[in-house]
Amino acid sequence: MRLHELLVAGLLLFCPALAQGNDDPEPTSEPDPDPEPPAPTPTGIDAFANVTVYQPEDSSHQVTFPRTINLPNNTVLAAWNEPAEPNGTVHVYRSKDSGFSWYSLGTAKSRTAGRKLLQPHLLFINGTGRENDDGEIDYGTVLMAVNAVDDKSTNIEVYASWDLGETWEFASRVVSGGRLTESNGTAVLNPFLLLSGKKITVYYTDQRSTQRASKLVQQTTTDYYGSWGSAIDAVVSQFATDRPGTPTVAKVPSSGHLPNNQYILTYTHSLLDATTNTYTNPVFYKISSSPENFGTAASREIRTDTGIIPQGAPFVTWSALGGPNGTVVLTDSRTASIFINRARGEGTWAEVATTAGRAEGREVKVPDDDGTKLRLAGGSEVGQQKPSQILLTMMDLAKAIGV
Ligand SMILES: *[C@@H]1O[C@H](CO)[C@@H](O)[C@H](O)[C@H]1NC(C)=O
Ligand SMILES: *[C@@H]1O[C@H](CO)[C@@H](O)[C@H](O)[C@H]1NC(C)=O
Ligand SMILES: *[C@@H]1O[C@H](CO)[C@@H](O)[C@H](O)[C@H]1NC(C)=O
Ligand SMILES: *[C@@H]1O[C@H](CO)[C@@H](O)[C@H](O)[C@H]1NC(C)=O
Ligand SMILES: *[C@@H]1O[C@H](CO)[C@@H](O)[C@H](O)[C@H]1NC(C)=O
Ligand SMILES: *[C@@H]1O[C@H](CO)[C@@H](O)[C@H](O)[C@H]1NC(C)=O
Repeated sequence: MRLHELLVAGLLLFCPALAQGNDDPEPTSEPDPDPEPPAPTPTGIDAFANVTVYQPEDSSHQVTFPRTINLPNNTVLAAWNEPAEPNGTVHVYRSKDSGFSWYSLGTAKSRTAGRKLLQPHLLFINGTGRENDDGEIDYGTVLMAVNAVDDKSTNIEVYASWDLGETWEFASRVVSGGRLTESNGTAVLNPFLLLSGKKITVYYTDQRSTQRASKLVQQTTTDYYGSWGSAIDAVVSQFATDRPGTPTVAKVPSSGHLPNNQYILTYTHSLLDATTNTYTNPVFYKISSSPENFGTAASREIRTDTGIIPQGAPFVTWSALGGPNGTVVLTDSRTASIFINRARGEGTWAEVATTAGRAEGREVKVPDDDGTKLRLAGGSEVGQQKPSQILLTMMDLAKAIGV
């Protein structure tokens, strides 16, 4: 049964029938990882710096915005933005040792000729662990939001994998916009997926309004990847020339004295300086108790206790380290440092040094298998072709923030 037939049939994702395998050949065997030093150790993951996830054959390619997800059994998947990829595909790579060594796993490709897939973002929906009618175990579904781009259009689409990242099928189109352009366009871009309960929300940058250079909007589905609700504003600046972009969202779980889960949305708030007619790109954020209701929340600039303002595409995550509030961790695109907040996004932000390089659209994530660590993934620097590879660093966050 093909995916679109299943969608027409209105079956839910968690229906075991959907978890059936396909008739594709056996997975290609991976080279023996032979990791050195062995990672992870039984007591957690050893810290490491700058292991290569992916290096394009052509070293003139820019590789940016790497996005990773945790899967069961110390497995991590990675995908990234590579505009010059010759086949227009998104490559998916896999590590089975918590990010220490990496191998090619699969690719996602558009069915529409001439469209390339850019700006991937990955999401894992855990499976039931039960056998379906074909005797295959439902380990879960990996979703990938992308921007499917051609000369005339941008399209936020979702692809799905039922074999933990090896094969990918088109699942749904969320929205279409005009082509990518440097000046005022009508494109949609930079999708980001969030799972909350049984809902999936996709956030993206929306340039289609004639009233605003761009805004951030979100659409939500309750049937996992079809039937997206209408677009709801998440960030609309009062100034028409402002360009909010590159949204990322993290859940900040309830803590002892603060009962509600909160969600933090971070984004670049590109502002036009009227005197110089150039844009600056400070990172802003919003906090809301609902991931679908950022529109009414206040926009705040981040400025550290030493006066640093993070700049360029950010990524936000939450670590349970550091007491009941945990720690909000943010990376920008300009510095090698990360920025942390120990009061659920209130109060002060502090800069913390890392051994990873700065990178455009760098990502920070906490590995499933060791909460004392922070995984940083980065590619090329802003506006540069170098380094022309995706590098991954496992940082000892507990040590770095002294907890
Ligand atoms: C994880 O490892 C366990 C133990 O080897 C195995 O039973 C399970 O099927 C694995 N899960 C996945 C998703 O591979
Ligand atoms: C592009 O596709 C061709 C044909 O499938 C394949 O041989 C080649 O390795 C692909 N290139 C990359 C960079 O994946
Ligand atoms: C995910 O599902 C498996 C069964 O497939 C279960 O053993 C595991 O605890 C679940 N993990 C999470 C984080 O819910
Ligand atoms: C871009 O759009 C904004 C808001 O609509 C407008 O104020 C500005 O003049 C436009 N810039 C260009 C170069 O067209
Ligand atoms: C935890 O967060 C709350 C709410 O932001 C704040 O009032 C409190 O001071 C924080 N606790 C610590 C130890 O920072
Ligand atoms: C990692 O690579 C970056 C360049 O991308 C470099 O600046 C940094 O020093 C490297 N870190 C280590 C520990 O070698």
